[in-house]
Amino acid sequence: MTEPRASVHGREVDKPVAQRQNRLSGVHDASWMLDLCCCAGGATRGLQDLGYRVCGVDNKPQPNYCGDQFVQADALALLARWMELGWLERFVGIWASFPCQRWAAITVRGRENHPDLITPGRELLEETGLPWVMENVPAAPLRDPVMVCGGALGCVSGDLQLHRHRMFEANFPLTGTDCVTIRPNTVSVVGHGSPSGNRGTLGRNPRIAEKREAMGIDWTNRDELSEAIPPAYSSFIWAQAPVALEAAA
Ligand SMILES: C[S@@+](CC[C@H](N)C(=O)[O-])C[C@H]1O[C@@H](n2cnc3c(N)ncnc32)[C@H](O)[C@@H]1O
Repeated sequence: MTEPRASVHGREVDKPVAQRQNRLSGVHDASWMLDLCCCAGGATRGLQDLGYRVCGVDNKPQPNYCGDQFVQADALALLARWMELGWLERFVGIWASFPCQRWAAITVRGRENHPDLITPGRELLEETGLPWVMENVPAAPLRDPVMVCGGALGCVSGDLQLHRHRMFEANFPLTGTDCVTIRPNTVSVVGHGSPSGNRGTLGRNPRIAEKREAMGIDWTNRDELSEAIPPAYSSFIWAQAPVALEAAA
């Protein structure tokens, strides 16, 4: 990918990416997306930035959720039930960020205590007949996933940038990004504080304000921020869905 040089929601990105996303912005005002395992809505916000309204589902209360509607429920049980009831008809697509602790590098022990929702989730998503995306960490068992790097999407704060590589599988063709370095230092947004590696390289703890700016997220608490993907990632990925491309044509 070449140097970022155009703007989407104030963020510098590669020009073709900016053109595609700016063309989409606002064309989906009446379309609803379902965001499974939404937490406070990092992925949701990226879909809203494309113009969608979003219904989030999480099995924990999410008082800071930024979407348009929230349902507290088990994601897989809800998906199966709403399919039975025909309630998925109001959605044009599904985003799923199933929990990553089973595969995340930061999980030190007890991986096996965290369930794999990706495998049963994929089966259910396929049954819905809707376009869908699953997002997760690099070691997760996604099929033929593409990678997105924060540097490619302008996720920066001062001389800090995110790398925050995330993987995406969809039932439509996807293009990811390269790993792109656009700032001298990397900021990690994980857990409850700053990883010692990050402190060692920078000689200081990155401030929460810097993390928020790089993530493009200002409405969550610290833990929700660590769980999130930058909205720029879900905008970039969902802008490639055929349903999105057709709407923007
Ligand atoms: C990695 S976070 C999602 C982050 C979100 N995509 C974002 O960008 O902000 C995973 C979320 O899944 C939720 N979760 C875990 N198991 C669940 C289940 N069985 N059903 C619904 N939500 C679940 C957790 O409460 C957590 O909020």
